[in-house]
Amino acid sequence: MSTLPDAGLFGPMIDAGVRLGYPASRRPGQRLQLGAGARLRSGTVLYEASRIGASFETGHSVVVREDCRIGEHVSIWSNTVVDYGCQIGDRVKIHANCYIAQFTVIEDDAFLAPGVTIANDLYPGDEESARLMAGPHIGAGAQIGVNVTILPFVRIGAGAMIGSGSVVTRDIPPGMVAYGNPALPRRRVADLPHIAGRVAAMATASGLRPATPADQRAGIRP
Ligand SMILES: CC(C)(COP(=O)(O)OP(=O)(O)OC[C@H]1O[C@@H](n2cnc3c(N)ncnc32)[C@H](O)[C@@H]1OP(=O)(O)O)[C@@H](O)C(=O)NCCC(=O)NCCS
Repeated sequence: MSTLPDAGLFGPMIDAGVRLGYPASRRPGQRLQLGAGARLRSGTVLYEASRIGASFETGHSVVVREDCRIGEHVSIWSNTVVDYGCQIGDRVKIHANCYIAQFTVIEDDAFLAPGVTIANDLYPGDEESARLMAGPHIGAGAQIGVNVTILPFVRIGAGAMIGSGSVVTRDIPPGMVAYGNPALPRRRVADLPHIAGRVAAMATASGLRPATPADQRAGIRP
């Protein structure tokens, strides 16, 4: 285990108060492997027995448990916990306040917005369920909205988009927009209206709403 008490000693990219190779009671004594070019902010704790690729970036108070495999150019923002045994591909972005349950798989280029919560034990308290625990599989480039809850075993297809606040209980096909509780596929991502028109429609629908910066950027006047 190494503790980095002084950012100056270890270079400006790893803050004081970062802990590397925190002892894992499940896998004692296996080294943490961390690629070059990490930018780790204060409060980050990376457990031993995980392997993390180059250019890894964390916000404050991020925890990555043991036995995780994390690719290159991955960023994980403040107060997120990645539990043990997860596989995370390259260029994945996980925003703040997320919980990534044990044995979750997240493929390359996926994005998880703030507050995404992942479960891996379908019948909590049931011993067999605990033995079979597995997180969901999130496909490459999938976009998961704010405060989405994803249940165990579910597969979210590549390039799918999950609407904010959804509860994903069943598989979502690739390239589909799904939302609601339970989340259901509603349309194809490719068929989403152009965003500027979408913002304009919202401004028109609520006649009283003053122009927002987004309206102004989209060329909409109140
Ligand atoms: C899912 C989403 C992409 C749908 O966008 P859209 O296709 O333009 O959908 P619309 O706004 O036309 O909504 C269609 C209907 O679905 C409902 N709806 C949209 N998103 C919903 C959601 N997340 N949960 C429940 N219902 C939703 C709308 O209220 C509307 O219902 P109505 O027809 O009864 O009025 C969008 O609403 C969303 O949730 N985006 C994710 C935002 C986010 O979390 N971003 C993360 C980065 S910060």
